[in-house]
Amino acid sequence: MSGTPAIARVPAAETRALRRAILRPNQTPEACIYPGDNDPASFHLGIRDPDSPGDDLIAVASFYREPVPGDANNPAHAGTPDLRIRGMAVLPEHRGRGLGRTLAEAGLAIAREQTPPPALAWCNARTSACAYYEKLGFTPRGGEFEIEGIGPHFVMVRAVLLDTAE
Ligand SMILES: CC(C)(COP(=O)(O)OP(=O)(O)OC[C@H]1O[C@@H](n2cnc3c(N)ncnc32)[C@H](O)[C@@H]1OP(=O)(O)O)[C@@H](O)C(=O)NCCC(=O)NCCS
Repeated sequence: MSGTPAIARVPAAETRALRRAILRPNQTPEACIYPGDNDPASFHLGIRDPDSPGDDLIAVASFYREPVPGDANNPAHAGTPDLRIRGMAVLPEHRGRGLGRTLAEAGLAIAREQTPPPALAWCNARTSACAYYEKLGFTPRGGEFEIEGIGPHFVMVRAVLLDTAE
């Protein structure tokens, strides 16, 4: 790629082809419509390939205001549901170039501007992606669990502001 990749907010519908191709290749298109995709507080980011004539998306991630599992009643976070990251996917030929980090950090920056801002960010991380999330400051919470049809996962959590105590 010779041009600079451009990150932008995209409609949920535009993320679904990459979600399916990378995250759910054996599932139906409907399985790539996630609960909360169209909630007002949800947002979706995509990175386009500036060299592609079709201006195709090469990386996507989605962000939802949803409590960390088991944390819905934590008084420290009452009224400020956490930030869930889902559908994080980078095309294989564009991995290792910082696009995933760019998406995650852009999402965290947008969430910090929401009212009220979330205290924690979290995701159900595929075990194969845990090292990536650890690089972004996430740590596992609880044990490994299986999501049927996808594989083993850990809940990974970090403070939205890294210098903010949980
Ligand atoms: C996981 C994924 C989103 C990472 O995207 P990426 O653009 O390659 O990641 P980045 O280049 O931004 O990497 C950020 C850091 O994480 C590291 N990293 C990325 N993937 C890694 C992996 N699988 N294992 C270990 N470290 C990894 C990078 O080396 C980089 O480290 P650095 O900051 O020290 O240089 C991408 O590999 C992907 O789409 N995988 C398949 C789908 C998937 O598993 N999504 C997550 C679902 S929970």
